[in-house]
Amino acid sequence: MVSRDAESRSGPAPDGQVRIEPSNWRDLNALRELERICFPLDAWPLLDLVGVLTLPAVVRLKAVVNGKMVGFVAGDVRRSQKLTLIATIGVLPEYRGRGIGSTLLRECEEQAGMPIVRLNVRISNRVAIHMYERMGYQVVSRWPRYYQDGEDALVMEKHRYNNVYGD
Ligand SMILES: CC(C)(COP(=O)(O)OP(=O)(O)OC[C@H]1O[C@@H](n2cnc3c(N)ncnc32)[C@H](O)[C@@H]1OP(=O)(O)O)[C@@H](O)C(=O)NCCC(=O)NCCS
Repeated sequence: MVSRDAESRSGPAPDGQVRIEPSNWRDLNALRELERICFPLDAWPLLDLVGVLTLPAVVRLKAVVNGKMVGFVAGDVRRSQKLTLIATIGVLPEYRGRGIGSTLLRECEEQAGMPIVRLNVRISNRVAIHMYERMGYQVVSRWPRYYQDGEDALVMEKHRYNNVYGD
């Protein structure tokens, strides 16, 4: 299971346990590898990865198992628009379906603290769309041919304080 409580962050996690931790520039190589595996069509250039690991207005979190980064999320916080833009989220294939992606996203929403959270997703990405819907995101628009290979993007948004469950 994924540990998120303060106590579990303060010491080494037992073998196999997932921990959510802040990420920084030292994670560049691990993030590069994770992006290459998670986004074979849309992996970011090196410069964008450096930006996401260093720019001040970005919340960046990693999921770690036995010292290895197995998941990552970055949220670009735009205070003037009261908005967090989820820039990227990915979990290594062998660690999927255990709640790591949902936990990373929820932590990122909370730490960013903005009332609106927005993201883009390929229209064919059923697993991600399912996760977003389950977490309270709704489709607000569709951008035709947004991706380089011509696939449409869905724009999804969550209004955090309209949600009776508060997540
Ligand atoms: C989207 C992604 C981050 C989800 O990560 P995850 O750790 O598997 O997420 P969770 O375990 O929290 O939940 C994902 C949901 O999808 C389901 N799911 C996970 N893997 C699945 C699979 N291979 N097939 C079908 N459903 C799957 C889970 O069961 C869960 O749904 P549920 O809670 O209703 O059962 C991960 O699939 C991923 O990295 N994909 C590639 C990168 C990507 O597409 N990122 C999003 C770009 S917008």
